[in-house]
Order: sequence, then structure tokens, then C-alpha cells
Amino acid sequence: MVAKIMTVVGARPQFIKAAVVSHALSEYEGVKEEIVHTGQHYDANMSQTFFDELDIPEPKVNLGVSGGTHGQMTARMLEALETQMIESNPVVVLLYGDTNSTLAAALAAAKLHIPIVHVEAGARTHSATNPEEINRICTDHVATKLLCCTQENFDNLKLENLADRAEFVGDPMYDAFLRYSAVVKKPRLTGILGEGSNLELPEEFYYVTCHREENTGVDETMSGLLDALSSLDAPAVYPVHPRNRSMVKRLAAKDSLSNILFVEPVGYLESVYLVNHAKQVITDSGGLQREAFFAGVKCTTILDFKVWPETMVDGRNLLARPTRESIRTAMEQPQTIDRDYQPFGDGNAAKRIADSVVSLAKGCSR
Ligand code: UD1
Ligand code: UDP
Repeated sequence: MVAKIMTVVGARPQFIKAAVVSHALSEYEGVKEEIVHTGQHYDANMSQTFFDELDIPEPKVNLGVSGGTHGQMTARMLEALETQMIESNPVVVLLYGDTNSTLAAALAAAKLHIPIVHVEAGARTHSATNPEEINRICTDHVATKLLCCTQENFDNLKLENLADRAEFVGDPMYDAFLRYSAVVKKPRLTGILGEGSNLELPEEFYYVTCHREENTGVDETMSGLLDALSSLDAPAVYPVHPRNRSMVKRLAAKDSLSNILFVEPVGYLESVYLVNHAKQVITDSGGLQREAFFAGVKCTTILDFKVWPETMVDGRNLLARPTRESIRTAMEQPQTIDRDYQPFGDGNAAKRIADSVVSLAKGCSR
């Protein structure tokens, strides 16, 4: 009999993590992975591009749930996922990260008594207002297996009395980075301010992304970031997340920001190219902070809290406020790189995750 594993994804970073694990799962006999896409991210360049570029199996279904408040989105996903799980009857549900899609799937599966494997378990910001923190904590507490990217994440779970369900396996983002760095693509940049496609990538540039709720709510924060970027000694390449597209366009129309290339989101292979070739990275993305670390490229993180403290050593990744002074201070601090320090595992996390999922699936009597 074939054991069915249901993977639930919905947002850009989850497609990347799922890609390497899906490929690893496809090597096993006796299990079948079924991907369910919640629809949280839906623009082609936020979703389909990743399935195409990374050769991820097409989802069995796209639930088409996106937008609204956190409560509305999570509730609509919960209802649709419960129906889907009852219909498909998987033996295990596999989840990634900390999005509303993750939380909704965790709640649906837990109430149906379906065992859950949570990848990227144990990350903690200790910020009560960070929306993803709630998703992470709730998911970890209802999951059956907690697979951690770092030892520090494992230690966080110990403090919450969850160590008996937890294991340090490494970060599938690191696996993806190692695997795909060999096949990266120089990006074709498409401007969002009416410049059209095929903008030239400058020889020297900074790579910038910004999409957190904490940074995109008010003009002041975004204006501070744009002001800092416009003062840099090389252009900033900034693929704009759809969340703050209209805000960025409005602010860019107000000020002269010729040092910033506001472009459409790029694919993963292009993003890794940008990380590997950037002078520095400036971001609030959890994934991009780690990729800058993997690439040995210095990073400045525009947040009040640490998401990946493992990267914040030896000047390699510093927190900054969204002001010219704070960002410049962080960027000017030199970094040193200890090549022996690799807290994100050995690049074989996907295989360990697949092993863990398959052993749970085969041991299930459902
Ligand atoms: C979500 C995750 C965040 C993750 C990020 C990855 C939650 C709570 N947050 O944030 O942890 O870092 O994804 O990118 O789940 N939109 C579009 N097209 C799209 C996707 C989004 O227009 O393809 C717009 C919609 O107006 C939407 C808004 O962006 O309402 C925000 O999207 P949402 O998925 O709610 O949050 P993210 O900021 O993407
Ligand atoms: N990324 C991408 N295209 C972009 C910007 C980012 O492919 O235009 C990649 C980036 O390299 C990383 C991932 O998206 O692998 C991070 O996703 P995001 O910043 O959306 O979410 P987070 O990691 O903050 O949850």
C-alpha cells in the first residue's frame, strides 16, 4: 500500500524549501507526495515561476485563498484545508515555516488527528507583535515531529519542553542554495515604474528586499529605507514584493530615487545570482538573510528583532532601523568570515527531512 503525504504550501519561501524535499521524497518507494497550494501567493512571479524553475510537482489543487486580515485568511484556509484533508486522507501532513498557510494546515491536521511534520521548527523572534511568531509557536505545539534548521532552534524547543519531538536536521534553504548556485541565471530585470523589461543589471549593486508587515505599514518606514538606499555608492536592485508595490510606486513618484532600480520580483535562480554578486544585501527577509550568510555577503536587516541570530556574528548580519544613519552604520561595520562556522547543517537537510517523513508515514496505521 502507498502511504500518502500531503505537503501544504502557499508562499514563495515555502516553494523553495518544498522543492528540495520533494525531490528527495521522490526517491522513496511506498510513499506518494500530494502538494496542496493554499493560494496565499498567486502572482505568476510569486508562485508559478518557482514550480517551473525548480521543477516542483504541480499541486493537486490550488485552494485560491489569499488576502484579507490574518484571521480571515487563516479561517478560509482552515476550512478549505480540512475539506481537502478529509477527501485525500493523508497519513502525514508536511509543513514549512511560519506563514498563515502553515498555521491553517497545522490546525486542520491536528483536529483530524493527522500527524504533522514541521520543517523550520523552533525559530523564535521573541517578539509578541510579529505575526509569524504566533504561527510558529502554535504549529510547533501541535506538530508530531519538529525538524530544526539549527541547534539554536532545537534549544528553543527544549525550553518549551518539546525536545522529545525535535531533531536538528539542517536548513533545506542551505541545500537549495548549494544545489542551485551552480545553475543560477543572470536576471532579466523588469522595472515597475514604466521602464519595461530588460533593464541592465549594473556591474556593482546592492540587493534589497523588504516586505514585512512591520516595515510596510506606514510611509515613514519605507521612506527612511528609500532615503538610505538613494545615498549608497552603487545602485540598489530592489525586486518589490506585491504587498508594498503601490506604496513604493507612490513614494518613488514623490522623490528622485534614480539610484534605486525598482523591479518585479525575480525567480529563485535569479535571486541567488543577485545574492552571490551583490556588494551587500539589505533586507527584512528571513530567507535572504540566510542566503547572504551562505554566500559570505554582508547583510543589514531592517527589523527590531533577530529571526536568525546564527547569522548575526562577526559583523556578518546587523540589525538596523529604517533610517539613513542606522543603515549606513550597520553597512560600514566590517565583517569577518569563519569558514568553519556553518550552523545551518551540511547541505543534506532535505534527505533527513524525507527520511523522517517517510518513517513516520510508514509507521502510521491510518
Ligand atoms: C507572507 C508571510 C511571511 C513571508 C512572506 C513571504 C504570513 C503571515 N506572512 O507575507 O511570513 O515572509 O509571505 O514572501 O503568512 N499579494 C499579491 N500577490 C501575491 C501575493 C501577495 O498581490 O502573489 C499581495 C496581496 O495584496 C496580499 C499582500 O500582498 O494581501 C500580502 O500578502 P500575504 O501573503 O498576506 O503576506 P506576505 O507579506 O506575502
Ligand atoms: N526571492 C526570490 N525573488 C525575489 C525576492 C526573493 O526568489 O524577488 C527569494 C529569496 O532568494 C529567498 C526567498 O525568496 O530564497 C525568501 O522569500 P521571502 O523574502 O518572500 O520570505 P521570507 O524568507 O522572509 O519568509
